[in-house]
Amino acid sequence: MGGNRNSSIIVLVIVLLCGFVLSCGRKEAADTAREKARWTVGMSQCNLGEPWRVQMNAHIEKEAGLHPGIAVVFKDAQNDTLKQRAHVEEFISAKVDLIIISPKEAAPLTPPVSAAMKAGIPVIVLDRRVLGEDYTCFIGGDNVAIGRAAGKWITARLKGRGNVVELKGLMTSTPGQDRHRGFREGIKGSDIKVIFEADMKWLEPNARIEMESALSRFDRIDLVYAHNDPGAHGAYLAARAAGREKGIIFVGIDALPQEGRAYIAQGIMDVCFEYPTGGIEAVRTALAVLRGEKVPKEITLQSRFFTRDNLERGGELIK
Ligand code: FRU
Repeated sequence: MGGNRNSSIIVLVIVLLCGFVLSCGRKEAADTAREKARWTVGMSQCNLGEPWRVQMNAHIEKEAGLHPGIAVVFKDAQNDTLKQRAHVEEFISAKVDLIIISPKEAAPLTPPVSAAMKAGIPVIVLDRRVLGEDYTCFIGGDNVAIGRAAGKWITARLKGRGNVVELKGLMTSTPGQDRHRGFREGIKGSDIKVIFEADMKWLEPNARIEMESALSRFDRIDLVYAHNDPGAHGAYLAARAAGREKGIIFVGIDALPQEGRAYIAQGIMDVCFEYPTGGIEAVRTALAVLRGEKVPKEITLQSRFFTRDNLERGGELIK
């Protein structure tokens, strides 16, 4: 009788212990699932040498931080197309769940993006395009509309006539091509002359050098239209070194608070057009794709423009 009671107690203790161990295990598994991301997203950034791209990565990181389901692995191609191609290939071999790419140039980055799609890895192309449509979703501002708005603003500001320098972004990248095309549409029919144009490849030091040659060739330059704010600032520095900055209007694109908008506040630039990074939208779209939801092929981001008059009001939407 006593023996039976003892063995029942032993059995009960064992059952309770097993239950405890099991529930601990289950709790641990649940905690790990909560902590561990379900999906790995590879982000290929073409360079981190410019503030705008640092901002794009920061937007991605912040938004991804709100969604424990995904972990983002960042790679910086340091403005080297071959390196960026290799990065996408590495993401394919690592079998990431999704790739976000902001490609340096359109043509050379098209084949690796297609290879990822072929391997069943969805790709979100951000800000600069690849060729064709072999990707899951493109997200970016409307660079033709931005260029056109700049052209119209410039035409109004110069009352329809004047000498303009155009400092172009990398012309093998789509924003450079589109900002050029839109601008030419915007000044069409006016007496504005583009007396000097050069590809400064998005970089401030190149813009400064190109502007030095424009200044040495032309006595009258009314305005500089640069495809980004670093370009406009580089041109301003060249003009200031030549003592000619006061007579020239500087126009740029990006409008980061600490860059273009600060130049407006300091009186260096007259207008800048916002080019949103799309980082937040990219993470949200990535999540939708990973959850199996249908996403649009193209997401166009709205832009504003900033002048000294509207800066405090948060700028105005471009039409
Ligand atoms: C940064 C940048 C921006 C520009 C964008 C265009 O690399 O040059 O200044 O708006 O790329 O893709």
